[in-house]
Amino acid sequence: MESRTLKQAIDGSFLLGAAISIRALDDPAQVDLLTREFDQITAENVMKPMHVQPRPGEFTFDAGDRIANFARDNGMTMIGHTLAWHQQTPAWFTQQPDGAPLSREAALSHLREHIFTVMRHFRGRVLGWDVVNEATSDKEGEFLRDAPLRRAIGDDYVAQAFRFAAEADPDTKLYYNDYGAERPPKRERIVRLLNELKRDGVRVDGIGWQAHLGLKWEPGVDARTHEPTRAPWADEIEPTILALHAACPNVMVTELDLDVLPWPATGMGTVLTDENRDAIDPFRDGVPDHVHAAQSQLYAELFDAFEKHRDKLSRATFWCVNDGQSWLNNWPVKGRTTHPLLFDRANRPKPAYYAARDAVLRCKRGRSPFSSKEAIR
Ligand code: XIL
Repeated sequence: MESRTLKQAIDGSFLLGAAISIRALDDPAQVDLLTREFDQITAENVMKPMHVQPRPGEFTFDAGDRIANFARDNGMTMIGHTLAWHQQTPAWFTQQPDGAPLSREAALSHLREHIFTVMRHFRGRVLGWDVVNEATSDKEGEFLRDAPLRRAIGDDYVAQAFRFAAEADPDTKLYYNDYGAERPPKRERIVRLLNELKRDGVRVDGIGWQAHLGLKWEPGVDARTHEPTRAPWADEIEPTILALHAACPNVMVTELDLDVLPWPATGMGTVLTDENRDAIDPFRDGVPDHVHAAQSQLYAELFDAFEKHRDKLSRATFWCVNDGQSWLNNWPVKGRTTHPLLFDRANRPKPAYYAARDAVLRCKRGRSPFSSKEAIR
């Protein structure tokens, strides 16, 4: 029986990471799991602008320091997340009290001050920062998202953030991070943004593919008894890595999860009721075997591609460690029970864990000079 952990199977091909909250550090079982299974950490929330600088000039680093020091003390790589984002950023950063955008000068000065203070505080403890998060639009025909920073500063707020970051700390890596690169139109916008930054001489050291992925359920099927259909993103794993790599040599998977719940027909903000519960929260009493199998298959495909493209990929980071911690229990619908990660609510490895590990080992064996011998044995 194979007894290696996933991290041991990966064996340095790329870092294996997890996003955590400070609660995890107070739980010995979590600490044990984290240090055994992962070698990289991202702060799930506490390094975001609203946590780090809730009021102008008032910086609070206690929680971020705990996580950064935990990473350092355990020999794990720490990634900073995030400096410029349209969410979890206080209104004063970009807006006047009446909600109108600040002047370009005022917003640039907030951005610069924030980036300088935060990056210099964590200097030496953070390998790299997600300098800008989610700047591209989801809408057809629209390049950049309508973000508060963009309203105040203009389209060049992305370049300005990277320039401030490069000036604040020349030794820390600077990343652009976004979701949806598995969808070709969104991927094109991300690639275009990277190419424009490159053209303008802006330093970007890595591109983050968030990789919030999910099983695909046909509308109306009962997920407790039916198979999901093949998710379109499953055939986009390699094209995504290759396209991002062509735009920026260092590709990172930054927020990996693979949701098992059906997307609600009524969309974001749907409220869970007795009527819709069975349709949109079908796995609150556990995961049926066919769902474990579908999730395992897709995790195997992902990790096979990660290992195959280890020369292009520097890390794969899960968005939380166990299913109970996942933000997807509360997004896009509050209060559901989902199972998107490799560890269950009791921190036990799931079938998907073994599938991912075995895919990595298989991929390695496939290119080993001894593979034919091993096959005979
Ligand atoms: C999420 C956190 O997981 C939640 O706890 C929080 O309430 C909202 O933000 N993209 C990102 C992450 O870049 O920062 C988000 O994290 C998930 C989507």
